[in-house]
Amino acid sequence: MTDIQILIVDYGSQYTLVIGRTLRELGVRSVILLPKKADMWLKNNTPKAVVLSGSNWSVHNDGAPGLPKSLDDTGKKYLVLGICYGMQLLAHDQGGAVAKPHEHREYGPAEVTLDTTHSLFSGVPQKTIVWASHGDTVTKLPKGFTSIATSGGIAAMTNKNNRVLGIQFHPEVAHTTEGKKILQNFLDMAGCRKNWNPQNLIHEIQKEVLDNVNKNKGNIILGFSGGVDSTTLAAILTPVLRKRLICIAIDTGGVRAKELEEIKINAKSAKVKNLIVIPAGTEFIKNISKTIDGEEKRTKFREVYQRIFEEQIAKYKAGFIVQGTLATDLIESGQAGKSAMIKTHHNVGLKWKVQDLHPFRNLFKYEVRELARALKLPPAIYERNPFPGPGLYLRVVGVPVSKEIIQLVREADKTVSDIIKKHNLGKDISQLIVALLGVNSVGVKGDERVYGHSLAVRAVQTSDFMTAKGYYFTEEMMEEITSALTKHKNIVRVFFDMTPKPPATTEFE
Ligand code: XMP
Repeated sequence: MTDIQILIVDYGSQYTLVIGRTLRELGVRSVILLPKKADMWLKNNTPKAVVLSGSNWSVHNDGAPGLPKSLDDTGKKYLVLGICYGMQLLAHDQGGAVAKPHEHREYGPAEVTLDTTHSLFSGVPQKTIVWASHGDTVTKLPKGFTSIATSGGIAAMTNKNNRVLGIQFHPEVAHTTEGKKILQNFLDMAGCRKNWNPQNLIHEIQKEVLDNVNKNKGNIILGFSGGVDSTTLAAILTPVLRKRLICIAIDTGGVRAKELEEIKINAKSAKVKNLIVIPAGTEFIKNISKTIDGEEKRTKFREVYQRIFEEQIAKYKAGFIVQGTLATDLIESGQAGKSAMIKTHHNVGLKWKVQDLHPFRNLFKYEVRELARALKLPPAIYERNPFPGPGLYLRVVGVPVSKEIIQLVREADKTVSDIIKKHNLGKDISQLIVALLGVNSVGVKGDERVYGHSLAVRAVQTSDFMTAKGYYFTEEMMEEITSALTKHKNIVRVFFDMTPKPPATTEFE
């Protein structure tokens, strides 16, 4: 078993899991725990370093979470690094001052000037762009601390022996140009060694699942969508669970063109022994069409989704349900520690009659892709763009879904996907979305007035879907896409959406 070298205390920042992911990218295993659990863990374990995450709390708020009681905040036992709120907590706790939130929070890219003689910033240019996301700031350093970076105010601090550190910006976010270098410096200062690799993880996942499911002899149901997560999970679990693993794929009616064929092909690649496809489109549309509210649609989707799985659990006498839920899904469903709920993912937080297992709960998409590569699954699987469980239903905005509208969105998705494929742009685009906007408008086709639909085309670039950049098509591509889409008699307008995440999310709902 690979040992945990870093404890990350989760104060609820959207980026906490990104810290874990980045450390893993640098080859180091970490564990993420809420402050109370972290306190207990530290009583029995001595990591090489403790990272205190960011948060949407202010240290001045009533009830703001504090430092774990058992934390050695002198840094003698292990290196301590506070990021954003974590830095403010350290400063506040040790007698420094933290300013109350301003009206305008510092949010987005900022330039900092670093003390590059300090080991934390060694090899980093003196001036660099970082990602900031905070209202409070440390305005007075605690006794014995010095500032090692500035961006208007204090952007980083250290204690005398360089064992307690604070950074106001987010080194873990990809938009901090030198973020990885800074975190590598931090790992070097902590004396960490590389101990994370995909093979270890595959064995750990198999062991964790086996330890659980061997408590009884029942079957194990796996929610199989044919996407990279569930296919990789199936490929990991099939060798150890064999015929006990029943993969259930639901035709929700919101799937893309050819999706059902791909599900079967991918199940074969994962050497799945039992694949059951349940046709349920009519049931889903009936329930989801009752509302146009994004979050309610997700709830309606979940109701049918859960009902179908419960039926299958009973039918196959399963004792467990296992799903490929990722860290990102948990964060944005508000299930990871104290992070805010952005949207309820279709398979997160459901209460099952049997035990549910989420072996990928600490992983990000790009890590699952690495596992798929290590398992030698075909590139069509590990390079596959993600697609949300509720599918095309999330891509009809502001009007009720219907079979006809879903079919229109499905065709539009295929049209744009084919153009992207033709231009070989798949590798530059992390996800494509073609959504129908519920605003009809006037157009003219063949000299006749048409009052028809508008479509939005959105392509994004991202590695973890926590943040994303809008993809800018060339003028020629935009023309080609617009012309292809407006061939449909009811489509009169096409919009291109390049809004980054944040503030937008990848999907429209
Ligand atoms: P957002 O829109 O939150 O999406 O930026 C991040 C990634 O998650 C996908 N997504 C989902 N995947 N069930 C899923 O399996 C869901 O309910 C769901 N909602 C969003 C989205 O397509 C993107 O890749």
